[in-house]
Amino acid sequence: MPFDNFKLNDGRSIPGIGFGTWKIARDVCGAQTQQAVEVGFDHVDTAQVYANEEEAGQGLRDSGLKREKVWVTTKWSGVGDKGVRESCLESLQKLGLDYVDLYLIHSPRLCKGDIEGTWAQFELLKKEGLVKSIGVSNFSVDDLKTLLKTAKIKPVVNQILLHPYVVTQQTPLLEYMQENDIVPEGYSSLIPLTSKPGGPVDKPVKEIADKYKVAPEQVAIIVTTSSNKDRLERYLAAGDIHLTEAQVEAIDKAGAKGERDDKRKKKAMDVARYGLLAGLGVWAGFKLVL
Ligand SMILES: NC(=O)c1ccc[n+]([C@@H]2O[C@H](COP(=O)([O-])OP(=O)(O)OC[C@H]3O[C@@H](n4cnc5c(N)ncnc54)[C@H](OP(=O)(O)O)[C@@H]3O)[C@@H](O)[C@H]2O)c1
Repeated sequence: MPFDNFKLNDGRSIPGIGFGTWKIARDVCGAQTQQAVEVGFDHVDTAQVYANEEEAGQGLRDSGLKREKVWVTTKWSGVGDKGVRESCLESLQKLGLDYVDLYLIHSPRLCKGDIEGTWAQFELLKKEGLVKSIGVSNFSVDDLKTLLKTAKIKPVVNQILLHPYVVTQQTPLLEYMQENDIVPEGYSSLIPLTSKPGGPVDKPVKEIADKYKVAPEQVAIIVTTSSNKDRLERYLAAGDIHLTEAQVEAIDKAGAKGERDDKRKKKAMDVARYGLLAGLGVWAGFKLVL
């Protein structure tokens, strides 16, 4: 199950696949986190707003894995308008840890117009040793440019939505991140299979899955989650699958077609909505005249 680690710009290395705890109910989060670690995941991704850090921490302890063998990420989500340091201390206490491996600004929106000031507080957390690496999530090129203007420490990652149906729209961001040595951490990579089945990506993914005799979800994952042990094992086994450039290109091409189709559908719906509004407007005007 050799998923490569990725070298970060601060010299540390992050495991290439992670188990996420978003949307996992508190009463099962401990057992599901423990299951993921026992199956072989050594990277757990949680957040203040997921409201299950306590249970994720318990699951980690129950797995018996040594602290230094597991990478733990959590995020400042601005819950209850709590500040960065207070939130970080609270997350550490809930997780039952002295430090997290990676602390992220969950969204630029939370900085309320002060990305530079918020990042300075993240830099202080790293200096204090409460967090080993610092990064961001859902940042655009402009957000990153604002941050980098005054940053003393660069973000190591930007955790973003990444799947074949958004690759075209995310390309300028991915290029900017590459130029600045910021690693993309993709989430919701299974969307083509889970919420958009039947789209153009299905065909190349199925062809590749058939060729390697693997499940389609093994062709497209990064930070993922599942309550299902078999799926977790399949995700990890996907580290053995090495796609050729032509196969990646075929998925990207199909993804780009899906993106164009979505845009056309949205445009058609906007036109229909405008037509409906105009119709209602005319109808309202007609009623007024009467
Ligand atoms: N930074 C952010 O703003 C942000 C946003 C979203 C997510 N994330 C992180 O990324 C993690 C994963 O995100 P996600 O949940 O959106 O990811 P995902 O990996 O796209 O989807 C995982 C979900 O898909 C289901 N699934 C897996 N394989 C499937 C298949 N073959 N057919 C049908 N369903 C399947 C799983 O359900 P079962 O339990 O039934 O297997 C699970 O609920 C989160 O937990 C979180 O840590 C971060």
